[in-house]
Amino acid sequence: MSIQQDQVAELIKHREKARLGGGQKRIDSQHAKGKLTARERIAMLLDEGSFEEQNMFVEHRCTNFGMEKETYSGDGVVTGYGTIDGRLVYVYAQDFTVFGGSLSETMALKICMIMDQAMKMGAPIIGINDSGGARIQEGVNALAGYAEIFQRNILASGVVPQISAIFGPCAGGAVYSPALTDFTLMNRDTSYMFLTGPKVVKTVTGEDVTQEQLGGASVHSSKSGVAHFVSSNEEEGIALIRKLLSYIPQNNLEEAPLAVCTDPIDRLEESLNSIIPDSPNKPYDMYEVIRAIVDHGEYLDVQSAFAPNIITAFARFNGMSVGIVANQPKYLAGVLDINASRKAARFVRFCDAFNIPLVTLVDVPGFLPGTGQEYGGVIVHGAKLLYAYGEATVPKITVVLRKSYGGAYIVMSSKHLRGDINYAWPSAEIAVMGAQGAIEVLYSKEIVAAPNPQEVAQQKASEYVEKFSNPYNAARYGYIDDVILPKNTRFRVIRALQQLATKKVSNPAKKHDNLPL
Ligand code: HXC
Repeated sequence: MSIQQDQVAELIKHREKARLGGGQKRIDSQHAKGKLTARERIAMLLDEGSFEEQNMFVEHRCTNFGMEKETYSGDGVVTGYGTIDGRLVYVYAQDFTVFGGSLSETMALKICMIMDQAMKMGAPIIGINDSGGARIQEGVNALAGYAEIFQRNILASGVVPQISAIFGPCAGGAVYSPALTDFTLMNRDTSYMFLTGPKVVKTVTGEDVTQEQLGGASVHSSKSGVAHFVSSNEEEGIALIRKLLSYIPQNNLEEAPLAVCTDPIDRLEESLNSIIPDSPNKPYDMYEVIRAIVDHGEYLDVQSAFAPNIITAFARFNGMSVGIVANQPKYLAGVLDINASRKAARFVRFCDAFNIPLVTLVDVPGFLPGTGQEYGGVIVHGAKLLYAYGEATVPKITVVLRKSYGGAYIVMSSKHLRGDINYAWPSAEIAVMGAQGAIEVLYSKEIVAAPNPQEVAQQKASEYVEKFSNPYNAARYGYIDDVILPKNTRFRVIRALQQLATKKVSNPAKKHDNLPL
């Protein structure tokens, strides 16, 4: 029996109805807020014509508060799969036009089905959040729905990349799904994330804050570190997600795609030979070093405004994707503190989970001292970075540019943490601490007692500098594999990456680790 005309018409009618979500009025209201609809977002995210929508006829099953009289095909979320640059991805986008994108039992079911498929197929999951939270009329069923999503976020962690875009409200426990994913992007002015809104905050603490002050994009990108990327509009945010995916593999068993590289691998960068200032206390911009050595000077900065004393970025060498971790002498002299340690540790663990080699550029005076840091638990947070580097089995290449002192020397992908190739520039200073601090500890009594204290202090400092403020002491012990000319850094890093392409190392079998959280 062939399909009848009226059956075709019926299908078209059903589809049209589903595509309208909560109706034209609510779509207009969404646009008036400067926001796109769920379907517009997906269309922009995926390769043209690649989207295959799933479960567009699912409806909620709630009968509380007369809800059975108000149903919408698709029930508040658009789900499916498609491609980005020809690579399979799974996607869901909450539809604010249906009950404010609030999460129902069936909506969770749709999201979970997408997540399960992504796991089976080994492809990234992208969630676009724009929701009033748990659907109030559904009570505990909505909460159960969230929990089902969280459980899948947890199981997918380290197996397939998970990316969250926040393009509207994301409040209450709903924030935990993005927090469990690998990367969170927020859009300036139209998105916010918080556990409890301004009204509850006012009641509980008496604090008067706006939504923006409490959980806007600028707060989460610079203060809390919850957001990894910020966009000025949704189009820019979606372009960022596409770019991010270009650096990462489909799953933990694959490698990142190799890009075409027309940048010569033996390109010499003369500027690097003079980038280190004469004075050890003078800063320079580590981004200049990164731009000079990576393919075409291009990189994708992750958490750029959070803990800017450390840089975490994706880039490529000869088309190979790498994660760059670099101290930034321009901010707080590149010191490691709580936030820098947290930021870099998470990035290192992502790269390790997804087979992305690590290139570490070191210029670090040590850990930030003081009660602020100690009371905040810098010991445990610093240990996170130490742990992350120590457990990482991907190729690890380190270049010490200038300072590499104390515990920070060990932490920043040293030879002792299974660094594969550790280079140093001739300007490197690898020591327990800087000259000034060392003289203070070792000779303060002698200096004070001397008839010419300043002269003695200077002489002791010069002795220390001569002995330790160079890379050769560490190289003598094999802790540095070679001292390289700065201008050759690109070539030497590429050579190292090529050599390490077949690296195989595994950690002892265990149920899971006990990372110092
Ligand atoms: C059901 C909801 C809803 C919800 C919004 N709507 N939130 N319906 N459950 N949680 C509906 C509204 O009734 C309205 O329906 C439509 O969505 C749009 O909402 P508006 O308020 O008109 O939009 P706007 O002015 O933009 O405000 C958006 C908002 C606000 C800030 C999100 O709606 C709001 O505060 N919602 C409640 C947020 C909340 O407290 N959620 C529970 C959090 S606790 P109509 O028919 O008029 O279009 C939580 C626990 C999760 O989520 C725990 C997980 C572990």
